[in-house]
Amino acid sequence: MGTSVSSLRVDVGLLELAAAEAFRYLEGLPERPVSIRATDAELRKLLGGPLPQRPSDGKLVLGDLVAGVDAGLVPSGNGRYFGYVVGGTLPVAMAADWLTAAWDQNCIVHDGSPATAVVEEICGEWLVDLCQLRPGTSVAFTPACTHADLLGLTVARHSVLARAGWDVAERGLAGAPPVTVLINESIHAAVVRPLQLLGLGGSIRTLPVDSEGRIREDALDEAIAAAAGGPLIVCGHIGEINTGGADRLRVLADKTHAAGGWLHLDAAFGMWAAASPRLRHTLADGIELADSIGTDAHKALNVPYDCGIAFIADKQAHQAAFPLSADYLHLDPSQRHPVQWGIEVSRRARVFPLWAALRTLGKDGVGELIDRLCGHARRFADLLAQEPGIKIVNDVAYNQVLAVFEHPHEHPDTHTRQVAAVLQQQGEAWAAVSRWQDRVVLRISVANWATTEEDVQRAAAALTAAHRELLP
Ligand SMILES: Cc1ncc(COP(=O)(O)O)c(C=O)c1O
Repeated sequence: MGTSVSSLRVDVGLLELAAAEAFRYLEGLPERPVSIRATDAELRKLLGGPLPQRPSDGKLVLGDLVAGVDAGLVPSGNGRYFGYVVGGTLPVAMAADWLTAAWDQNCIVHDGSPATAVVEEICGEWLVDLCQLRPGTSVAFTPACTHADLLGLTVARHSVLARAGWDVAERGLAGAPPVTVLINESIHAAVVRPLQLLGLGGSIRTLPVDSEGRIREDALDEAIAAAAGGPLIVCGHIGEINTGGADRLRVLADKTHAAGGWLHLDAAFGMWAAASPRLRHTLADGIELADSIGTDAHKALNVPYDCGIAFIADKQAHQAAFPLSADYLHLDPSQRHPVQWGIEVSRRARVFPLWAALRTLGKDGVGELIDRLCGHARRFADLLAQEPGIKIVNDVAYNQVLAVFEHPHEHPDTHTRQVAAVLQQQGEAWAAVSRWQDRVVLRISVANWATTEEDVQRAAAALTAAHRELLP
């Protein structure tokens, strides 16, 4: 019994127990109700109480963990979970993630984990090629897209101020030339928060968008003219959080660059349109012109949480924005040192699951995966649109479907909320409401490799039934 720290050892039985529980969970996922079944009080009762005084046996603790969390787990790996934008996990990426935990690498510098440093280089090269970004683009692996946006915008701030003769890393913001930051008004909070952290919250000007969430060109022209040639950062997106739409990247890039500015793109799940031959020339046209991009592998690419990626087109600008001096770190300039490319110091080797996903799918497989998600989204929209009173309000060009449910007496906002509540209680599928252009919409996000045609049919049927049930 592991009841003291001195008796701890690597217990194969403990790891086998964990694997067996993982199999049990994964095998049960397709049949598991797609709903949340526990209250916080119930979870607290199972998992809380005072912290024990003495060490406990690992297997017993693992058993308690499994029993305690089970009803509070969101079955997001089920193919009928369409909430937020939550990707599934490719089996090979999950397996690589287990190994990553066992290997427990801290990849600050090359000599902390040469394998991680080299695999980061390889994945960076693969991704630049896959998404046809500018050759020489530098890549950093972050916990999530918000951090990737923070990283890209940190380089943006440094770079536009450096062009105005101001070293912000050295001198700070006090007394710096004012920076104009233009953002798409429907851009994700993951861009606004980094700007606020960077001291640029007061410089933000939001630009109005069209029905698909694309910056209006007239508004962009006017705002760029008002910036009068000063330091300028423009933020657009691929994969608007509701519609899945994308800005006109070429127009944004041309106008931003003509004014000497920096173009940053938030592309948490939209990035992967660039890897689909079908979508590359629509949603992602001009992506290679962006100066920085933040994305996630843990959404549409189906790598497990957490795995964000930042791309910076100008490697020198990237390095200049992240000065580092720490005598204890061995920073041989001929090697990659992850700490020189990102914000974190110590961190896990989150690149291994990504490597496994990319190597398994190959270029064609990534494109097929993304096309499959988009095909399911279109089918979902078609099925819903057949029902009187259900309206699809976005152009389903990517993986997102926005539906409004109409009622003869109720306001559509109220009825749409009620349909969502019924769906969530019944547990056949899960999606939630959002607000898009002043109305409540049911937001369906198809982001899981495991979703099948049958899942789409079952979810659409459940929604149609919930809608009918609530009609007079
Ligand atoms: C469009 C968009 N941008 C950014 C983010 C933030 O990503 P993360 O949660 O990985 O930081 C999300 C998350 O849902 C998103 O959908």
